Amino acid sequence: MPALAAMSAPEFYTRVARLYDALARRGPGVDTLRRTLADALAPAPGATVVEFGCGTAANRPYLEERVGPDGSYVGVDFAPGVLRVARERGLARGAAGHLVRGDATRPPLRADAVDACCGAFVAGMLAEPAAAVREWAALVGSGGRIGLLDLARTSRRGWRALNPAFRLFVRAGSPPGTAGALDRSPAAVQDERVAAAHRALRAVCTGVDYRTVLGGFGRVSAGTVE
Ligand SMILES: C[S@@+](CC[C@H](N)C(=O)[O-])C[C@H]1O[C@@H](n2cnc3c(N)ncnc32)[C@H](O)[C@@H]1O
Repeated sequence: MPALAAMSAPEFYTRVARLYDALARRGPGVDTLRRTLADALAPAPGATVVEFGCGTAANRPYLEERVGPDGSYVGVDFAPGVLRVARERGLARGAAGHLVRGDATRPPLRADAVDACCGAFVAGMLAEPAAAVREWAALVGSGGRIGLLDLARTSRRGWRALNPAFRLFVRAGSPPGTAGALDRSPAAVQDERVAAAHRALRAVCTGVDYRTVLGGFGRVSAGTVE
């Protein structure tokens, strides 16, 4: 079978936006993962919470439930296609909301305007995830909340047998050309980036809440910036 032409991440997510949205909302275990992130991040009522790499904003309802009517959700993503779907979803809920096209590693936001921020399934896509987490911590400042939700291979006995399937899942979910451009498997790179991001969060936060879900495949960290 001929290989698909290489595609940038914004092109890929724009192309698969609707399919991604269906998986992001109704895929197995996603409700548990998203609820765990919102519970761990626990933004205060009235807070402004930013999600970096928001995709189609599947986390928005969970985070809005937390911040209530006086708070707000801001989604940032570099792929216009997912932001279009996120806007439609928002309108269906009564308000398009604040959805911004921008780079998660260079937050396009005013530092004093954000109380909490998070990234879900995005750390594995960032070349320098620890640096991004430090940027997010600087954005919310001392006392602000940051949270991460990621998937990585599990070390839990009884679940490790599913790692090869997870490896295929990561490969299938990567933009065409990704695997060829890496010197290891996409799953190995994702494991390293996820670990680096969660380590960076632990380094800049106090009171870190670390939870694993779904047999250890789902990792959630959240804490208060020192
Ligand atoms: C796997 S999806 C996750 C989407 C969403 N957070 C969720 O929970 O369903 C990763 C998203 O991150 C976005 N992304 C990856 N790197 C980014 C970057 N440097 N800046 C902004 N968005 C980025 C992609 O466009 C994609 O929409």
